Amino acid sequence: MPVAKINPTTSPGPSFVPPCLHVDIEARPAAVTPHGRLPRGLESVPRSLSFEGRFGRMFRNLPPFEPDDQDLLDLAASMIENDVDVEGDANAPSNNARVSAGFTYLGQFIDHDLTFDPTSKLQRDNDPDGLRDFRTPRFDLDSLYGRGPDDNPFLYEADGIRFLIDTHDGEKDLPRNSIGRALIGDPRNDENLIVSQLDLAFLKYHNRVVAELPPTADGAALFEDARRLVRWHYQWIVLHDFLEKIVGKEVIDDILKPEPYHVPGAGGSKPFRWKADLKFFHWKRQPFMPVEFSGAAYRFGHSMVRRDYVLNEATAANGQEVPIFDPAHPNDPNAADLRGFRRRPVNREIEWFRFFRFAGKEKELQPARAIDTLLVFGLGGLPSSIARNPSSLPTRNLLRGKALGLPSGQAVARAMGIAECLIIRSDNADHRFQVGTGYKLPTGMPDPSVPPASPKKAHLEQTFGQETPLWYYILKEAELIAKGETLGPVGGRIVAEVFIGLLTGDGLSFLNVAPQWQPKAGQFGAPADGKFTMADLLRHVQ
Ligand code: HEM
Repeated sequence: MPVAKINPTTSPGPSFVPPCLHVDIEARPAAVTPHGRLPRGLESVPRSLSFEGRFGRMFRNLPPFEPDDQDLLDLAASMIENDVDVEGDANAPSNNARVSAGFTYLGQFIDHDLTFDPTSKLQRDNDPDGLRDFRTPRFDLDSLYGRGPDDNPFLYEADGIRFLIDTHDGEKDLPRNSIGRALIGDPRNDENLIVSQLDLAFLKYHNRVVAELPPTADGAALFEDARRLVRWHYQWIVLHDFLEKIVGKEVIDDILKPEPYHVPGAGGSKPFRWKADLKFFHWKRQPFMPVEFSGAAYRFGHSMVRRDYVLNEATAANGQEVPIFDPAHPNDPNAADLRGFRRRPVNREIEWFRFFRFAGKEKELQPARAIDTLLVFGLGGLPSSIARNPSSLPTRNLLRGKALGLPSGQAVARAMGIAECLIIRSDNADHRFQVGTGYKLPTGMPDPSVPPASPKKAHLEQTFGQETPLWYYILKEAELIAKGETLGPVGGRIVAEVFIGLLTGDGLSFLNVAPQWQPKAGQFGAPADGKFTMADLLRHVQ
């Protein structure tokens, strides 16, 4: 099937117009799988105003929305599309006209960086709630560097400066042990073959930066210098490439502002500090990870996962796109899909111009999926190496949202002062709440990937029409208000505030250490002053 085209330059960008089966998600064995494991401290997130731990709340005064579990299971079931491929049609409504496929996995990589807990097992056991010894979530690539060459020497070459990288069958791969497990900072970055190759690209980028810095006899200083430069270039990508695609530049500019001030002798070139104008994300001493972000808003990325991918010439030539996961083989470590936690099978090396925009290669660029309430078939039954009981990702998300005591989407929208006409409800004629997407193909025919209407549709629309689980709400507003291209008002503001809050709250981010810093033309892969994208990073390491 041909690859659907994406045109990020002409895409208009965000366009806002005014016993049952009782499943106790905590009681299930999810804790034994690498991604299903609950991050330390997430189990207890008090509502108190003085509480400060690893996790906290943005909307502490709003009541939790606690619908019936069975209704959540039925809602989750309505989100999984049929086992039918319409992705090759560029104009299929489930394709994202603005965001290319690679940003999905950059988003996942960023999630792992933010939610990674680099403390030792001993510290974690002593402080399971993460109230002491917790590390502020930061864009610092701890998921790559671990605790550095002294504490995690197995990640590094003997010089303690460069990352170890393996070669198998003539292809570069993450370093692995004898049973194929990746030796990397955060095991979750080997969960699928796309995020694992992004992790590899960052390892290569670090090594490339080391090679391009002036040689010095002081190895530790060289490592620190390289790590700082890699972090800052990554932070630049997070802010100016990823976040801009997902929420639009206007929201970023509304929050992050240069604050000029006077100094003697500066003339016309005033110095400035970056200031974050945060309306909803507030902390006392250190920024924390808000559950509205980790339990709902930032899980928007699950809806951008494609059903299958062209990886390289070989998979393009024989029309053999590789499915993300094959639910028919949950326990098969050799399944012909993109599951990870194994040595990379042959012919699975990614050509990145198929995932990020490279000049002259736009024809091959695959779009991400739209941000909407439709999830691909493979996410309805994850491999058991990722999560089980329940193995459906939307089921896990909706039950997790309830277990975390998240407020409803409408309650959050009102607390944010969003106009009623932009609040998704069953009685809002402009943006009516409905279960399912009702997508049609450009031909006017019904989209065959859309699942048949749930037999519970009427009941679900009555149950959730005025109060909707926050994750579902955020997907629905993106679908109805932003054409599935970006996040909508609630999701976009939450994600932008948390990203910018964490960056400005990090004393070591470039925004604080060197407010005027920007990538420099010709250095470390930047094509021009103040320009550096994920595509530039990948081009620099290929
Ligand atoms: C194939 C791709 C992906 C798979 C299989 C996957 C799977 C999972 C699973 C199993 C969980 C734990 C669910 C729970 O028990 O609560 C999870 C959590 C999460 N995912 Fe994903 N995910 C994927 C991609 C993404 C993307 C693209 C994003 C964002 C852009 C994302 C953001 C999150 C967040 C914020 C959490 C909660 C925090 C955490 O524990 O890391 N995921 N994901």
